[in-house]
Amino acid sequence: MDHIYEAKWITTPVACDEAVYALEKTFAIDKQVRRATLQASALGVYVVEIGGVRVGDQILSPGWTDYRFRVQYQTYDVTDLLGADNCIRARVARGWRMHRSGWQANYGEQKGLTTDSDTAFVAALFIEYADGSTQTIPTDASWLCRETGTRMANMYNGETFDATFCETFARPALETDFPMDLLTAQQNEPVREQIRIPASRVFTTPQGDTVIDFGQNLTGYVEFSVCGEKGHKASIRCFEVLDKDGNVYVENLRAAQTTITYYCDGTRRTFKPEFTFYGFQYLCLHDWPEDVKAENFTAIVLFSDMKRTGWFECGDKDVNRLFENVVWGQRGNFVDVPTDCPQRDERLGWTGDAQVFARTASYIYDVRKFFKKWLRDLTHGQYADGRVEHVIPAIGWRSGGACGWSDAAVICPWEIYRTYGDREVLVEQYASMRSWVDFMRAHSTDGLWLGGDHFADWLNLDGDTPTSKPYLQNAYFLYSTSILIRTGKLLGIDMTEYENCFADTLAAFRARFMADGKITENTQTACAEALVFGFLNEAEQKSVAAQLAQLVSECGHLKTGFLGTPYLLHALSDNGYETLAYDLLLRHEFPGWLYSVDNGATTIWEHWDSRNPDGTMWDAGMNSFNHYAYGSVAQWMFECAAGIRHDEQDAGFAHIVFKPLTDKRLGYVKASIETVHGAAASEWRLTDGGCTYTFTVPAGCTATVILPGKTEEIGAGTYTYTI
Ligand code: BGC
Repeated sequence: MDHIYEAKWITTPVACDEAVYALEKTFAIDKQVRRATLQASALGVYVVEIGGVRVGDQILSPGWTDYRFRVQYQTYDVTDLLGADNCIRARVARGWRMHRSGWQANYGEQKGLTTDSDTAFVAALFIEYADGSTQTIPTDASWLCRETGTRMANMYNGETFDATFCETFARPALETDFPMDLLTAQQNEPVREQIRIPASRVFTTPQGDTVIDFGQNLTGYVEFSVCGEKGHKASIRCFEVLDKDGNVYVENLRAAQTTITYYCDGTRRTFKPEFTFYGFQYLCLHDWPEDVKAENFTAIVLFSDMKRTGWFECGDKDVNRLFENVVWGQRGNFVDVPTDCPQRDERLGWTGDAQVFARTASYIYDVRKFFKKWLRDLTHGQYADGRVEHVIPAIGWRSGGACGWSDAAVICPWEIYRTYGDREVLVEQYASMRSWVDFMRAHSTDGLWLGGDHFADWLNLDGDTPTSKPYLQNAYFLYSTSILIRTGKLLGIDMTEYENCFADTLAAFRARFMADGKITENTQTACAEALVFGFLNEAEQKSVAAQLAQLVSECGHLKTGFLGTPYLLHALSDNGYETLAYDLLLRHEFPGWLYSVDNGATTIWEHWDSRNPDGTMWDAGMNSFNHYAYGSVAQWMFECAAGIRHDEQDAGFAHIVFKPLTDKRLGYVKASIETVHGAAASEWRLTDGGCTYTFTVPAGCTATVILPGKTEEIGAGTYTYTI
C-alpha cells in the first residue's frame, strides 16, 4: 500500500538557495476514479496542491525528525481533487532541515544529501479506478521544475513573496539518490492552524513605527490583506515585546530576522507565509502601501494538533492568567518537537526544558504521540556511550551528557507512562533509558558521578553559591536509576545490578552531601530535589523539609532555576508546608510567578526577571518571553492545589488520589484532566467556616479521597463532601 517507495526523490536542477521551487506533473484521466491516495515527503518542508487546491491542512510537513535516520511521509485521500485534466504541484522550502543560524553552523553534517541540491521531494499518487484497474504516478525525471514567487523562505528569517513573479520557465526535475529507506509514516499529530486571533490595536510608537498588537504572545504567522502599486515592497517584522518606552524591541531575537517581505502586484491579495513560523505578539510594518487597518491582519496560531485534556481555574484571576500562560507556552513550543523557545535564532529541542515540563504538558494536552516521536529521535541522538545530545532532533553538535538534560531519556518516557499508563513507551525506550544510566555508572567512581559539562540549575538566583554540579549530577543519577529500576521491574527484567548501583550511589551521596540528616548544599534546589526524588528516609525527609522551609522563609522567595523549580512547591506542600508553597505561588514581586503576570506576560518567561521592575530587559542575549520551563508549576496546580494525583503504583489514573490543598486566598479551585479512562475532576469551594468538595471518578476507576479528618475509598461517579 505504500506506493511512495515506487517513486524517486526529485529536486531542482539549478541551485535555488532559499527560494522556493515547484515540482509539477500534468496528467489526464479518462476513467472513473474510485479512490486516489497521495503519499508525499520532502527534504525540507513542502506544500502540495492538485488542480490548485491545497492537499491536506498540515503545516510544515513532513515535520522535524533526525533526518540522518528518518524522514516522515504523509498520506492523503485526494479522491475529490482529481478531474479529467490534472496538475499535481509541490512547492519545497528548506524548512528545519536546512535552516542555518548561529546555533546550527554545523547543519551540513546532518544534511546527508548525496547531490549538490539542498532540498528534494518525493511522492506517489495511487489511483484506483472504478473498473478495478490502478495507476501510480510517482515523482521521477518526467516532472517539471519552476521557480516560484516565494523568493526566500527561512525558518528564522521569514519569507519573501513577490506577487509579480512570473513562473514561465520550466525545466526537467532532477532525480536524486537520497535513500528511500529513510522514509517512514508520520508518527505524531501534524502541525495545523489552530486558532485565529484578530489584531487588537494599531498604534504608532514614540519612535514613529506603526505597530499591530494581537494581545497575545503566540507562535504562528500573520495573514494579511494588502493592495499596493505593482512592485511596491512592504515588510513586516514580527516581535515579542515593546521596550520600556513602548518602542519596538527586537534585540532578543538575536540573528533571527523574523520578517515577511511582500512585493505588491497592484491588486488586493491576502497572503500568509507557508514555510516558516514566528514567535510574536506584535508586528512592525515598514512601507505599508495603504492605511493600516486592524481588520486586515489576523494572527494564525500553529501547534501540533494534540487533543486538549487539562483545565484549571480558581478564585484568583492572576493565577488563572498564569495557568493560561502555561497553556500558551505549551502551544508555542509544541510545534512538532518540544522547543525551548519559538522566536529567536534557537528554537531547538532542548532536552532539559522538555524533561522539566513533560508531566505538565501531559496533563494539559494529550502528548503521547508527540513525545513518542520525539523520543525516537532522542534515541537517534544518543551516542554509543549513552550520552544524549543537548538538543533533539540532534543537529551535529557532538556534545551532550549534561545532568538534568540527558536525563530526558529516562524521565520523559516515564512521565508518558505515568500519565497515560502506556507501557509501550517504556518497551520502546528501555534500551535508551538504560544506556543513559549506564553512562553515569561508567563515569562514576566509588558510587559518585563527577566531571563532565553541565548547565546545572540553569538561571537560578543563588548568586555565588548555587547548587554544585556534583550534587545535581548525583541527585539525577539516583533519580534516573530509580526510574530505570521501576521500569525494568514493570517489564519483568532482573534489576539487581541497578539496585546495587543505586544503593552504592545513595551511600556515597549521603556521605558526601548530607550531614546530621540535612543537605550540606544549603540551596532550595538541592533540598527540593532530594525531597521529591524520593531517596531520603523518613527522618531525613523531615529534616530536609524543615531545612527547605527555613531557606524559603528566610529570604521570602524562590531562588530556583530550571532544575529546582519543578519540584519546589511539591517539596514544600508534600511535607507539611502547604502555606509556604502557596505563598510562593501567589507572590507578585520578583522573583515569583505572578511577577510576570503583573507585567503583562501572556506566556512564561525564560527568566524570573526577563523584564526588570523598571521596564528594562534582563539582557538582549538570551531573553525569551516564551519559554515553558517555569510553566511546570501547573503540575502543582493540578496535583496539589486541585489534588488530582494518580496512585504511584498504578499509572494512568486507574486509581486516583484526591487530596486537594485549600487556601483561602484562592477561594475555590476547579480542575479536570481527561485521562485515558475519562474525565477526572476536582473542585473545592470555601464556604463560611467550611469547604465543599466535589470529585469525579471516571468509569472503571477507583479513588481515595483524603480530606482533613477523613479518608474514603470511592468508585466511579461524582461525590460531594462538605466539611
Ligand atoms: C536554551 C535553554 C536551554 C539552555 C541550556 C538555552 O539557550 O534556551 O532553554 O536549556 O540553553 O543551557
